[in-house]
Amino acid sequence: MLTTTAMTPDAARAQQPALIELLRDAVESGASIGFLVPFNPALAEKFWADMIADVAARRRVLLAAYDDGILVGTAQLALAERENSLHRAEVQKVLVHTRARRRGIALMLMQALETAAHESGRTLLVLDTCAGSDAEYLYQRCGYTAAGRIPNYALFPDGALCTTVLYYKQLDATNGSR
Ligand SMILES: CC(C)(COP(=O)(O)OP(=O)(O)OC[C@H]1O[C@@H](n2cnc3c(N)ncnc32)[C@H](O)[C@@H]1OP(=O)(O)O)[C@@H](O)C(=O)NCCC(=O)NCCS
Repeated sequence: MLTTTAMTPDAARAQQPALIELLRDAVESGASIGFLVPFNPALAEKFWADMIADVAARRRVLLAAYDDGILVGTAQLALAERENSLHRAEVQKVLVHTRARRRGIALMLMQALETAAHESGRTLLVLDTCAGSDAEYLYQRCGYTAAGRIPNYALFPDGALCTTVLYYKQLDATNGSR
């Protein structure tokens, strides 16, 4: 059975090897998500430790998707902290393991992120993604609006430059999606 849940810091620490595996799988399958090949597990470990510290400080929501108890996906909401931006959050690191893709898991995670945003009083979601990526199709399917493109913004894992597209979605203040 597929389920999604917000991870506590303890739950995330317990799942850290599986979270690192999700990053490795995404990077080695070519996703531009901040890491290069050859994949460096030490950098990934530091990355998740930083994310878990943010969850503990309530600056970030970390979601997990499980298939019969096995971690198969994750997604994050970084909560803007400035006093003029408390209505906003950034969607980050939506990852579904290659062996679990095209089963609607990312859609479940995106819906759960909207619920988490609503619970945190956030009505504007923003994100950036690589142009032409599977993720870009996902965000379009979820109703995000493209705000613009930035050429040569980031690198693919193999070092090639990629164009990034900025997206946003305005949520209904009372009940999630508008
Ligand atoms: C993007 C990603 C999270 C999608 O995960 P997923 O669980 O396979 O996605 P879903 O099955 O929920 O698909 C939802 C929708 O996204 C779109 N989509 C997902 N994968 C797609 C693909 N390979 N080609 C075209 N559209 C795709 C489709 O609109 C799909 O709806 P449909 O199945 O009804 O056509 C996954 O491919 C992934 O982890 N990619 C690598 C990491 C990454 O790039 N993350 C984003 C960082 S910004």
